[in-house]
Amino acid sequence: MFDLRSDTFTLPTEEMRKAMYNAEVGDDVYGEDPTVNKLQDMGAELTGKESALLVSSGCMGNLIPLMLKGGRGKEVICAKESHIAQHEIGAVCSLAATLPVYADSKFGILDPKSVESKIHGGAYDGSDSAIIEVENTTSGLIYPLETMKEIKKIAEDHNLWVHLDGARIFNAQVASGISVKEYAACADDITFCLSKGLGTPAFSLLCGDKEFIEAAKRCKKLLGGGQRQVGILAAAGIYALENNVERLAIDHANREKISTALSESGWADVVISSTNMIFFKASYPMDKVIAAMRKKDILMLQDAGMGRIVTSLNISEKDTDAIVKAIRELKEEDFR
Ligand SMILES: Cc1ncc(COP(=O)(O)O)c(C=O)c1O
Repeated sequence: MFDLRSDTFTLPTEEMRKAMYNAEVGDDVYGEDPTVNKLQDMGAELTGKESALLVSSGCMGNLIPLMLKGGRGKEVICAKESHIAQHEIGAVCSLAATLPVYADSKFGILDPKSVESKIHGGAYDGSDSAIIEVENTTSGLIYPLETMKEIKKIAEDHNLWVHLDGARIFNAQVASGISVKEYAACADDITFCLSKGLGTPAFSLLCGDKEFIEAAKRCKKLLGGGQRQVGILAAAGIYALENNVERLAIDHANREKISTALSESGWADVVISSTNMIFFKASYPMDKVIAAMRKKDILMLQDAGMGRIVTSLNISEKDTDAIVKAIRELKEEDFR
């Protein structure tokens, strides 16, 4: 099976497993796991932030800043398509007690003018804007750096915190040539995932200034995220940052080939094709498309009412050629 459902299905490679086996470990709740500490230092260095904290998941990396900088009577301005709005079980409201306010966006990319128009506060009976949340990449799309700079400037003018959900920020770096540090400079904190295209079994890093990360540690503990000898998993993160960043270019090239095959198929209308993701509409019902692809050993998903294909280290260049061939072979009767 060619698994194109998500880059979260990536499996740890033999080399990554060896790095995990050999990891030096300690009690991370006491800050004594040398492998976790090394990974956190790498995260801080790569993002240009003072400090970093290993967190259980991307959701936790989003939730902690919302809890620390949002809270009762506070608002976060974000895109309606954002992960915090759509895919985190409403934790923004239920756990962070923060009200999401949607500014205008296209495929998840915020319009800075609309962001500014949503900022308000100080009324005796209203909630106050506190955070602006930006997601890069969003549905595979790369945020223009200028847009991020504009949003950061607006935030500074209004004394708001900027949280960057950079779950796939390394995909943005590899595709755009703009460093993670440059993107992270447009935000007060950034979280990025190790368990997506970078291929680890778990974990994200949350990076920011020392004061923020110290508060984040307590928040992580509060959420039940204090873990012990997790250097065994952090070693996978170190391996991923050292070996799996540049290779994301292969995933992007594979995505391009599959996207071309879909565009030329006559039945698919590609709406988004960027970094490692494709979103497309089809002239057939999407469940029929998914079933037809499955018969060709291709696994894909439906998301936001469209077909979704994600390339990752699960898929080699040879696999991509086979996928392209299979898509080109699909005939009308395959969709019945
Ligand atoms: C943009 C984005 N942010 C956050 C997350 C949450 O990551 P996790 O599944 O590790 O909680 C995801 C997961 O797919 C994501 O795509």
